[in-house]
Amino acid sequence: MAGGNLDAFKAVASGEKEIDVNKKVKVGIIGTGWIAEAHMQQYLQMPDVIITCGADLIPGKAEAFFKQYDGQNGFDASSVKCYPSHKAMLDAETDLDAVSICTYNATHAECAIYALEKGVNVMLEKPMCVTTEEALDIMKAEKKSGKIISIGFQPRLDPNMQKIKQIIDSGVLGKIYYIQTGGGRRHGIPTPFGTTFIQKDTGVIGAMGDIGCYSLDMVLNAIGYPKPLTVTGYTSNYLGTDPHYYEMDGKPAEYADLFGVEDFAAGFVRLEGGIILDFRIAWAMHLDTPGDTIIMGTKGSLRIPSTECWNGSLDDPMVIYTEVAGSQLQTTVPKIYVDPQDPKQSNFYKKIRSFLDAVKDGGTAPVPTSQILYNQAIIDGIVTSSKLGKEIVIDLPEV
Ligand SMILES: NC(=O)c1ccc[n+]([C@@H]2O[C@H](COP(=O)([O-])OP(=O)(O)OC[C@H]3O[C@@H](n4cnc5c(N)ncnc54)[C@H](O)[C@@H]3O)[C@@H](O)[C@H]2O)c1
Repeated sequence: MAGGNLDAFKAVASGEKEIDVNKKVKVGIIGTGWIAEAHMQQYLQMPDVIITCGADLIPGKAEAFFKQYDGQNGFDASSVKCYPSHKAMLDAETDLDAVSICTYNATHAECAIYALEKGVNVMLEKPMCVTTEEALDIMKAEKKSGKIISIGFQPRLDPNMQKIKQIIDSGVLGKIYYIQTGGGRRHGIPTPFGTTFIQKDTGVIGAMGDIGCYSLDMVLNAIGYPKPLTVTGYTSNYLGTDPHYYEMDGKPAEYADLFGVEDFAAGFVRLEGGIILDFRIAWAMHLDTPGDTIIMGTKGSLRIPSTECWNGSLDDPMVIYTEVAGSQLQTTVPKIYVDPQDPKQSNFYKKIRSFLDAVKDGGTAPVPTSQILYNQAIIDGIVTSSKLGKEIVIDLPEV
């Protein structure tokens, strides 16, 4: 068989669709910081994408961002128009098909709503936003616009993460009644490119918006995103506000004064269907891990080992615990190999590609707001409950 045919066979076997290069998608990037690089690298691999514009609040940042890709895969940085804000860009660029919103958490909602109001499809970085109210406003704008908005939870595209849902859907665990999830880092407050993650006015939420939302998505997606009913939450920031933490890293001790979000959070959540969700997440702690993820069911349970840097990946294989014919069994689920040399197997590539395919085909959002609303409501519930010092009821209106 000739190489080309074999490639076509592999593409079909892996479910990868052929890209219609005659149908181009005009894309703009809002916020040209750290994560925008990951978006740009994917777009540059896609023959049907034209990057027409970008925006950043910091003068000259967008221009410098695009310049570093000049000449890569035929990309011409001088053809990209740069703007000082999302509003300026969306007001001027009237024929955009889609935007990647890569701004810090505080401006996710305003950028997404403005883009939708302008009739532009949105790939919005996680977390969806910072409050339940903002999430509902985004959904209203989405409904009114008829456009697609997909939230950037790329671990969902990892075949090992997808296996969790497949295991639950197979019925081997029976009815799910208790889930413990979360995890975290012993020393991992993210300040590699500045302090937007840790300042209140830019990050608004800390460890929960950075990595906690991944843990929630992993288990909630696996069990079909049941509605959260009540939340008892706790947040703290003892380590993030201690100058000693940054001295250990060779970072400015003043970061301690700038730290305005949570470095640890815990929540006890009642979900529809009689399921309990016990959640904890840490950016920093005097501990290796606050525990593996465990999903307990009436016929079996699943253990998903925690990782050092919780970001929606798997180091050690998962284990299923069951009972068969009176014997207690433990089955190791083989890890699925993902070729790190193949850029198309990266979760980021799949996240952007699945969004673009939906935009082109008039499909639905790969990671829909209707699900992530619940993720956001749990985070918001933990913040509110922690402030009030008591359990709160989550009451979500229909959008
Ligand atoms: N999916 C992932 O793996 C992943 C990884 C890291 C970060 N993120 C998410 O990406 C987002 C950005 O993180 P980052 O580390 O790139 O932040 P960053 O601070 O490096 O970059 C954000 C940029 O957005 C710009 N900006 C803010 N509001 C704007 C507006 N209204 N118009 C134009 N530009 C605006 C800022 O000036 C800044 O340059 C966060 O919400 C974070 O949670 C996702």
